[in-house]
Amino acid sequence: MSPNDSYQDKEDILSKTSIKEYIDKNWSECKKSGSGYKVLCPFHDDKSPSMHINDEKGLYHCFVCKAGGNLVQFIKEFKNLTYPETLEEISNFFNIKIPKKNYKPIGEIGLDKKMFDFNKKISLYFKRCLSDEQANLKPIKYLKSRGFSSQDIEENSLGFAPDSWDSITKMVQDKKELLNIALSLGLIIKKDGKEDFFDFFRNRIIFPIKNRQGNILGFAGRTIGDDKAKYINSKESEIFSKRKVLYGLGNFNKLNGRKPKYIFIVEGYTDVLMMNHFGLYNVVATMGTALTLEHANEIKKISNKVIICYDSDAAGIDSSFKNIDPLFQFGIEIFTLRLEDGLDPCSYLEKFGMDNFIQRAKKSNLIIDEYINYLKDKLIEKDLSINEVVDNFVSKIRFVQDYIQRDEFINKFSSSFSISKRKIESIIDNEFVKSEISSQKHNSNRLLGPEDIILKVFLEFIDSRDIGIMNKCSKIFNNIFHKEIIDIIKINPEAEASGVIGSIEEDATSSMLSDLVFTPFDIPNDRQLRGKLILDCIKRIELDSIKDLKRLINLRLSKDGELTDKDEKELLNELKDLIDREKQLQ
Ligand code: CTP
Ligand code: MN
Repeated sequence: MSPNDSYQDKEDILSKTSIKEYIDKNWSECKKSGSGYKVLCPFHDDKSPSMHINDEKGLYHCFVCKAGGNLVQFIKEFKNLTYPETLEEISNFFNIKIPKKNYKPIGEIGLDKKMFDFNKKISLYFKRCLSDEQANLKPIKYLKSRGFSSQDIEENSLGFAPDSWDSITKMVQDKKELLNIALSLGLIIKKDGKEDFFDFFRNRIIFPIKNRQGNILGFAGRTIGDDKAKYINSKESEIFSKRKVLYGLGNFNKLNGRKPKYIFIVEGYTDVLMMNHFGLYNVVATMGTALTLEHANEIKKISNKVIICYDSDAAGIDSSFKNIDPLFQFGIEIFTLRLEDGLDPCSYLEKFGMDNFIQRAKKSNLIIDEYINYLKDKLIEKDLSINEVVDNFVSKIRFVQDYIQRDEFINKFSSSFSISKRKIESIIDNEFVKSEISSQKHNSNRLLGPEDIILKVFLEFIDSRDIGIMNKCSKIFNNIFHKEIIDIIKINPEAEASGVIGSIEEDATSSMLSDLVFTPFDIPNDRQLRGKLILDCIKRIELDSIKDLKRLINLRLSKDGELTDKDEKELLNELKDLIDREKQLQ
């Protein structure tokens, strides 16, 4: 996002152009449909027109492949142009003048490249340290003992950060520009308040983290000494964000353009490497964080199916269920593979080899079946009441984009818990405002939650953007994505929807936003009524979060014998406060 970007100019360009006209002349004729237009989507293998165009707002959105945005984004993707080239194209096609200063993309040109170059240089240095046999037999021996070959080391540019405080510091300390780059990449750290620096990675095996183009974004370092932190990562920078990057993508070129049937999601770097070692390149890992929407977006570009293969302990199972939300939002089908004896894929492959692994993978389960079984256990063990089980289930399937899939999941759930399907559907209807489900194929069938509705109102009605209310929303929104968008609108309170969408660089975020604009929902025309709608939604979010907290406290209270009297009393007090607050709100 670019808070400092000049909004006026962008809005100006968008107001002088017509996205429909551009698509009509350059791609295929847009056909009238409802209040807007539809056209074949150029971004996926489209059989019947599934891309929606709203010419008034200057936006497009495809409910099948989730491509969406404004004219600038359309041309960039469609013609595969850079930002300045896109502006040139717009200027020529619509015969309008666009001041040259607008050609400069957001941020300093070339800074990214400098950072990539520096990381590359440091990676080569780490590589040399690893192969410097005399000094470093220990790291090489360690890698070999873990089953990695020289070829694996070479292919993944593995390296070693020596046990020294100033190897990198020495390289940069007299060169101001390099020093600043090293600092912003987190390779060196400033000592408290002094102009003194020291190396961040010390005595660690180094795993460079690459994007699909092969640029090095950052590093992970595994200790081979007695450091308490087993793994550390480069800090977040302009080019490295754990929310976006997946380890393993750098090796996707080894698939030689083949689209894999599915992608494995594993927990660790060594899992990815060992699978690569056995010739399996359709594998990624997050960097010790939960899977985000951005990750899901990257995955969706490659495959519609994933197999989650985490450690088989309780923590692994819990975190695999957390991945359901972002993956379902992108319509990705999820399977799980639980390996025996708590083995992770790395140790399983070492012990049993690839054929066994593949056999096991072929028999992986649908995650929804496992999730239903998990809820059954929770019910039997009295960790959850039946109402809570239903709440849990509903809160997960609200993310399922595909109507048929959602229906199937409801069927499974209703037969497992002997609850009528109608009942579950009515709960869903009560919890979320159901969007108008059109009988036409490829329209949105998303259920808008209260946070979605608030954002939709803010996006489409500038006069509803009350700063106080927006601040409140920033505080109570649970989802980072929603929070981010509110912040963008707060910075640009006068921007139209297309301007807001245009200012977002992240594909996942802009696609979710255009999805929101094109998902039908009756927003009142009257400003006061809109205000009331927002307040109602805020109330629902607050009530939901109270409900969550209550459930948590009840769960803790229900675990007999594990609480001291004092703890129990405190929890009961908290519960009472929550119930009071709930009453006030209702
Ligand atoms: N992780 C981390 N920090 C730690 C431990 C783990 O960031 N202190 C992350 C890393 O991304 C790691 C993943 O969680 O790869 C899985 O953790 P774990 O299973 O403990 O590590 P392995 O990958 O199995 O590492 P190794 O095989 O080297 O022991
Ligand atoms: Mn592991």
